[in-house]
Amino acid sequence: MKTTLVLFLSACLYAAATRSQTGAKNVSVDNVTLSDGKIVVQQICTSDAAANEITSLKKEVKQLKEVLLQRLDELLRRLGKDESTSGQGDLFNGPLSFWLNGTDSQVSLRGSARYGEQDGRTALYLDGSSGAFAETPSFPIYRTSLTIAVWIKMKSSGAQYAVYGDWSYPWSFRLFIDPSSHFCAQARNTAGKDIFRFCTRDAVVVNKWTHVAMTWGRTQGTVRLFMNGEMNVSRKVTRRSKDFMNSGHSVFDIGLKRDSRTTAHAYFSDLMVFSRELRFSPIKNVNEIKEYLVLKHPLSKDSVGTVGV
Ligand SMILES: *[C@@H]1O[C@H](CO)[C@@H](O)[C@H](O)[C@H]1NC(C)=O
Ligand SMILES: *[C@@H]1O[C@H](CO)[C@@H](O)[C@H](O)[C@H]1NC(C)=O
Ligand SMILES: *[C@@H]1O[C@H](CO)[C@@H](O)[C@H](O)[C@H]1NC(C)=O
Ligand SMILES: *[C@@H]1O[C@H](CO)[C@@H](O)[C@H](O)[C@H]1NC(C)=O
Repeated sequence: MKTTLVLFLSACLYAAATRSQTGAKNVSVDNVTLSDGKIVVQQICTSDAAANEITSLKKEVKQLKEVLLQRLDELLRRLGKDESTSGQGDLFNGPLSFWLNGTDSQVSLRGSARYGEQDGRTALYLDGSSGAFAETPSFPIYRTSLTIAVWIKMKSSGAQYAVYGDWSYPWSFRLFIDPSSHFCAQARNTAGKDIFRFCTRDAVVVNKWTHVAMTWGRTQGTVRLFMNGEMNVSRKVTRRSKDFMNSGHSVFDIGLKRDSRTTAHAYFSDLMVFSRELRFSPIKNVNEIKEYLVLKHPLSKDSVGTVGV
């Protein structure tokens, strides 16, 4: 979003400069507003600039940009509702919940994506056809600890299924199911290098609800993958640059690997994003994912095996 805005404003300045050379007057940069999470630009470049207005214009653009980014941050803070968090210096204050049952105003469906009944509840259904996926707004996850969790019921296997992420140039993060049904996570840093990329050894079972989750502890560099509340693999990241790439994209995708337009054939329910690492310690018998997101969830009765009290 930020990148787009900067590019747009630069284009405007360029237009202003060009016009001033041709003797035109007045370029105004006005009316850029933030509305419902979207940047609305009205009338950003208008007629006739005097050459000596360019300098003040540049200043104005800079101020405007600062105000906008500030308001964007405020907005994103407001998105994270109820829980205080322990993230360090993060802009994004989780948790965010997308129920994926048709009531999330922020979720947009694309192509043949739709909400459908499944096991007594309404869930997001992606039929695997090209162009069928869903979008949530993006939020600044780049310098924070994280937990991303979602219920998924795969309707077929043998192909790579995108679960949730921001995976097109310049590639930031993604959760996905690989062709042998292992649950995987990948993230790239600001230099475009993998911070991590790995998969569970357990496989997701087709036609059963499975709860998949990734936790990312940015300070320690700990990343863990959970299935049905059980921690299956963890990694310690040694790379020094652990900030995720900030792609500037305005949306994150459910069920789409955007660079290759690969989609998923599955139901999705209850996507949650926390700006902290949900706690896990076998020694202290703490497993917040299992306790709060799996065992207490109605879908746990429809999921496979490992969930027990
Ligand atoms: C250009 O801007 C100045 C200052 O805002 C204004 O007084 C003038 O009328 C404008 N000229 C045109 C042609 O719009
Ligand atoms: C800017 O846009 C808003 C919303 O569309 C409108 O209410 C307002 O009058 C506009 N202001 C100017 C200076 O054009
Ligand atoms: C959607 O999910 C939320 C949270 O579980 C629930 O409060 C709401 O009633 C559900 N709506 C529908 C239409 O299923
Ligand atoms: C992860 O899954 C594999 C395959 O089912 C299993 O052998 C392994 O014990 C699991 N790891 C943990 C830590 O539970």
